[in-house]
Amino acid sequence: MTLLKLFLDSADPEKIRRALDFYPLDGVTTNPTILSRQNTELLPLLKELRKITEGKLLFVQVTADKSDDMVREAHLIADRLGGDLCIKIPATEEGLRAIKILSRDGISTTATAVYSVSQAILAAAAGADYVAPYMSHIDNLCLDSAQVAGDMAKLFREHYPKTNVLAASFRVAEQINRAVLCGVGAVTVAPEMLPVMIGNRGTEAELESFEKNWSSVYGDKSVGDLI
Ligand code: G3P
Repeated sequence: MTLLKLFLDSADPEKIRRALDFYPLDGVTTNPTILSRQNTELLPLLKELRKITEGKLLFVQVTADKSDDMVREAHLIADRLGGDLCIKIPATEEGLRAIKILSRDGISTTATAVYSVSQAILAAAAGADYVAPYMSHIDNLCLDSAQVAGDMAKLFREHYPKTNVLAASFRVAEQINRAVLCGVGAVTVAPEMLPVMIGNRGTEAELESFEKNWSSVYGDKSVGDLI
C-alpha cells in the first residue's frame, strides 16, 4: 500500500507556512503562473520556498522550450536550491527528451500540463516520476478527468510502477474525491481548497450543540479547567 501524497499548489510564502502548519502536506508545487503571481525576484523567492518546505518535496517548472535548455535549467534549479526537488517539464516532444535525459542524470521530473493517457504513457516511459493531468481543464473539454486520471494510474501500476499520477487544477472538492477514488497517487490543491475540504456545516452544527449542552452544566469552564 502506498499513501496518497497531498501537495499545496502555491508560491505564496505566508499561505504555504500556514497550510504546512495546519494540514498534513507532503510538499509544494509551483508553476510559472503561480510564481509570477508573487511578482518578485525569482531566486530569493525560490530560496524562501525551499527553506519553508525543508524536508518536503518542492516542485519547480522549467520555462525553456527546447530540451537541451530545459535540461540546463533543471540542473541549475537543482544546484541553486538543492534538497528534495522535482522538476516540472511540459508534456511535449521537447519535454519528453528532457525527461529522458534528466531521468538518466538522476533528477526527478514531473510531466506537466498533461491532458491525455497517450501523453502519460510516453512521459512514464521516458522516466517521469509524476505525470500531472490538469483536471478542470480536462473536464472543460467535456471529458471525465477522474476517469482519465484513473486510467493513467491503472496503466502506471501495471507498466510503470515508478510513476505516480499527480492530479492538479481542481476547482471543487468533489473533483479531488473522485480523482483519489479513481486511484491517483498524489493531488495538489490550491490553499483556498483546503478549508473547503475540511469545512462542513454539519460539523459546525454539532460543535454548537456540544457547546450549548456543556455550558448549561459547566458554564464557561473548559475540560482543562475541571480535571
Ligand atoms: O498545478 C497545476 C495548476 O496550478 C494549474 O491549474 O487551472 O489552477 O491554473 P490551474
